[in-house]
Amino acid sequence: MKWYRSIILILAIVLLTGSGRRVFPEGNNHWGHGKQKKDMKTDNKEIEQNGKVTKKSLGARTILLPTPVWVIGSYDKKGKPNVMTSAWVGICCSNPPCVMISLRKETYTYGNIVERKAFTVNIPSESFTKETAYFGSVSGRDTDKFSTTGLKPVKSNIVDAPYIEDFPLVIECKLLHTLELGLHTMFIGEIMDVKANESTLGETNSPDIEKLKPFVFVPGNRSFYRTGENLGKVSSLAELLIKK
Ligand SMILES: Cc1cc2nc3c(=O)[nH]c(=O)nc-3n(C[C@H](O)[C@H](O)[C@H](O)COP(=O)(O)O)c2cc1C
Repeated sequence: MKWYRSIILILAIVLLTGSGRRVFPEGNNHWGHGKQKKDMKTDNKEIEQNGKVTKKSLGARTILLPTPVWVIGSYDKKGKPNVMTSAWVGICCSNPPCVMISLRKETYTYGNIVERKAFTVNIPSESFTKETAYFGSVSGRDTDKFSTTGLKPVKSNIVDAPYIEDFPLVIECKLLHTLELGLHTMFIGEIMDVKANESTLGETNSPDIEKLKPFVFVPGNRSFYRTGENLGKVSSLAELLIKK
């Protein structure tokens, strides 16, 4: 009977580790977005104001939307360039200029950043939705994502990380802080340089959103969305109420 048990054990390992190239099955909460906790006190409770139901409590979940979609570039120990898609990200300080990204330890990128103390943020435009989805669906541990997509890695001249030549906007970061949060570890990177394709620059020599065409991610339905039209300059909009 021992051989029978061994076969079951091997089958279970293959199924659990996912012998295929995909890192997660469609719809799986593999990187911890969506529902984290069931809380009987809050979930699905209706919130009333003056006797009227105005809101519904959805519980403690990471459903802020939309989120940015960035592709994080890093080198592994041997110098192999890798990229992964990240949505738990944002600007977190103006001076020194900093960004934060939150990664799970099981990503290949996590170990790369710990080792190299640097990463790049690559902002995709609409023409790279396929590649961005792919970079977030397979691991560089067992795949060369650059050779599959044909995109070109370039060694940064400032930090120990590669950027994607084909993407229109890249941000080069030196690791400044590491914060253990739980499932995710937050890396704060100091921005050492920003490089942009000239064709995406606007009048003030900064990237123009209509030329760059970045897109956003909605965790709820796991889809990418276009960025929309200009709703007005903040100063002019605020002025409408300041003058009142
Ligand atoms: C749109 C999208 C956003 C993602 N955001 C994150 C994230 O913020 N943090 C994280 O740990 N994984 C995130 N992932 C999952 C990783 O990109 C995925 O696990 C990837 O295979 C890791 O690559 P690596 O092992 O080569 O580093 C995201 C995936 C997608 C498709």
